Amino acid sequence: MPTNISANEPVYTVLHMQTSAAKPTQQERIVSEIYQTLQANPAQLADEHWLRQSMAADFIKIFGGTAENLRCFAAPARINLIGEHIDYNGGKVFPAALDKYLYMTVRRREDDQILIRNLQLPGEYRRTLSARGIGNNELSYSLYLDGILELIQKAGLEATGGFEALIFTTVPRGGGVSSSAALELCYATLLQGLFPVELSRLELAKIAQLAEHEYVGVQCGIMDQFAVAFGKAGQAMLLDTGTLEYEYVPLDLGDHCIVLMNSNYPRTLAGSKYNERRAECMQGLAIAQETLPIKNLCDMNIAQFDQLAQRIADPVIRKRVKHCVHENNRVHKSVLALREGRLAEFGQLMNQSHISLRDDYEVSGDALDALFGAASSHPDCLGARMTGAGFGGCAIALVKRSASEDFMAKVGTVYKARTGLQADFYQTMAGDGAREL
Ligand code: GLA
Repeated sequence: MPTNISANEPVYTVLHMQTSAAKPTQQERIVSEIYQTLQANPAQLADEHWLRQSMAADFIKIFGGTAENLRCFAAPARINLIGEHIDYNGGKVFPAALDKYLYMTVRRREDDQILIRNLQLPGEYRRTLSARGIGNNELSYSLYLDGILELIQKAGLEATGGFEALIFTTVPRGGGVSSSAALELCYATLLQGLFPVELSRLELAKIAQLAEHEYVGVQCGIMDQFAVAFGKAGQAMLLDTGTLEYEYVPLDLGDHCIVLMNSNYPRTLAGSKYNERRAECMQGLAIAQETLPIKNLCDMNIAQFDQLAQRIADPVIRKRVKHCVHENNRVHKSVLALREGRLAEFGQLMNQSHISLRDDYEVSGDALDALFGAASSHPDCLGARMTGAGFGGCAIALVKRSASEDFMAKVGTVYKARTGLQADFYQTMAGDGAREL
């Protein structure tokens, strides 16, 4: 997954760490100065007009020229409210785009060179539009860019020409909120904006998912790319991953809010463990299909699972299937509870989801469990759970708005005492999907 830097983290430090063996290059010095300017204005990061102007100025410092013909694209991160690890099992999931974005400022070039720099990371991505194949870039995020470009070319992009682009992101660092889907969809939207290729939002989301499968090697479901492509401010999305039908559900939480908690525990095993879980689900499905006429694991209801359970000899596979069937049911109940304003019930379902992901699906880990424990025992928290793939990354909590400062301080202290790690907290809102600003 690409590394992202949270809005309140000094990227200069990151650049310094990554380049400490060598003297910073001229370009790296420019980048760190730019970042110091951004650091002096943390509140400004929420102001897209200011950010766009500021990125234009940074772009000119790096690539030269004037602000004329600069365009800016943005794509959000996402949270998943509930429905975890069932988007590759035909389940219903309930994500929302986050009001934290990845931005790309871009300008066409006369030649066919593509040059991309990231304000928060050293190095430069280079290739030509016409080049085929990968491997010429060492950057952590180059596979995502190669994948999106080449898959969009396969889908019909035939243009020639090049461009230079600058990336900046306010997405919390370290994974769990799909910074990768933000990068994929931002780049896909940019390519579609610059070149004549007509692809629907859904096609772009599917291309981004395929880039993860074929270029990055993670057999992810469609949830992240879908949420990033279709996000709407103030709304969550109920997505049926079996049919891709979806509906928006107002994220109306009254006097409560969602707090995003970044464990800052690195997600090193996420890719391989993720694929392992997916394979285990396929084993469970094969057993279920011996007696049930189902296409996906989540087509099964709880009564059918109870009947089937004894036929699944391997206790690990049995636990995985149990999680999927019950999690799908929790999504149904959560949406009903939210629509009817029963927030406490939604909070309970969040807690149950985390416990199931911890004990049956086994994707949480000590850091996320510590965050969950500290959060869910705070008196003003209705419920909490890990969000996303797990194995580190982020968790969310449903917290009384007026108590959110106290919540963040107390949970942060308990978490640090238990793990030695410093968590980051953000009060979140549902943001808009990928677009040109
Ligand atoms: C990752 C994947 C998604 C989904 C979640 C778990 O974020 O990209 O497709 O499977 O994990 O719910």
